[in-house]
Amino acid sequence: MATFYVFLGAPGVGKGTQAKLLCATLKLPHISSGDIFRENISRATKLGKLADDYISRGELVPDRITNAMIRERLGREDCSKGAILDGFPRTEGQAEALEKCLVELGGRIVAVFLIEVPDEVLLERLCGRWMCRAQGHIYHEKHHPPLQPGICDIDGSELYQREDDKAETVARRIHVYMEETAPLIEYFERQGLLRHVNGNQDVNTVANQIFKAIGERVS
Ligand code: AP5
Ligand code: MG
Repeated sequence: MATFYVFLGAPGVGKGTQAKLLCATLKLPHISSGDIFRENISRATKLGKLADDYISRGELVPDRITNAMIRERLGREDCSKGAILDGFPRTEGQAEALEKCLVELGGRIVAVFLIEVPDEVLLERLCGRWMCRAQGHIYHEKHHPPLQPGICDIDGSELYQREDDKAETVARRIHVYMEETAPLIEYFERQGLLRHVNGNQDVNTVANQIFKAIGERVS
């Protein structure tokens, strides 16, 4: 049966950073709803134009649009053994849609990692973040600087700062997380899937907690 892992947590807790590490170990695709939206925005697709308005205000893209996008992505061949979901689901409606979709695909959620970090750390992380244009590799000017400023170590593409990382948009994103996504903590707790992860430690220590929770050794 295909196995799916979910990363849950406020903006800037390190979902993308940890999801990429887990993907490399488990050899499963990394499905980040935010990355798919940003890729569509940069290509000016119909989906990108629809999503841009919500993302730039720090609001969630409506469930109808997001669920259809994820359903299409999970139906592709590279997800036949499972996937790592980063930033989806984010509402109870999305969690229910995912459950239905996994029944159809013959998959199940194995674990939901809730990464937790004090609020004051989130802003510092997001204001210092730089991302690569080509593949979304993640850097931080203090905690994980690139070897050459402005250039991705992995694929040589340009690094940029996300539009929605401005302080006022970050504040809105955190508020929206508390209102709309935090209720999922109890939802997954009830299902016995939730794993708490202390995200306020260096990247490798956080990764070790996650690998330990799924019984994988870090090489
Ligand atoms: P999305 O792209 O998912 O953004 P987010 O949830 O706000 O989270 P971030 O990507 O900002 O943070 P992260 O937790 O991935 O942290 P990262 O690893 O980069 O969504 C963006 C928008 O798209 C949403 O606001 C919404 O509009 C829309 N959207 C997306 N999904 C949706 C959905 N399902 N439904 C509706 N709308 C949706 O790390 C942050 C920084 O910290 C980096 O610089 C990193 O290097 C650094 N860092 C990471 N870990 C550590 C550590 N342990 N120590 C020190 N620094 C660290
Ligand atoms: Mg992310």
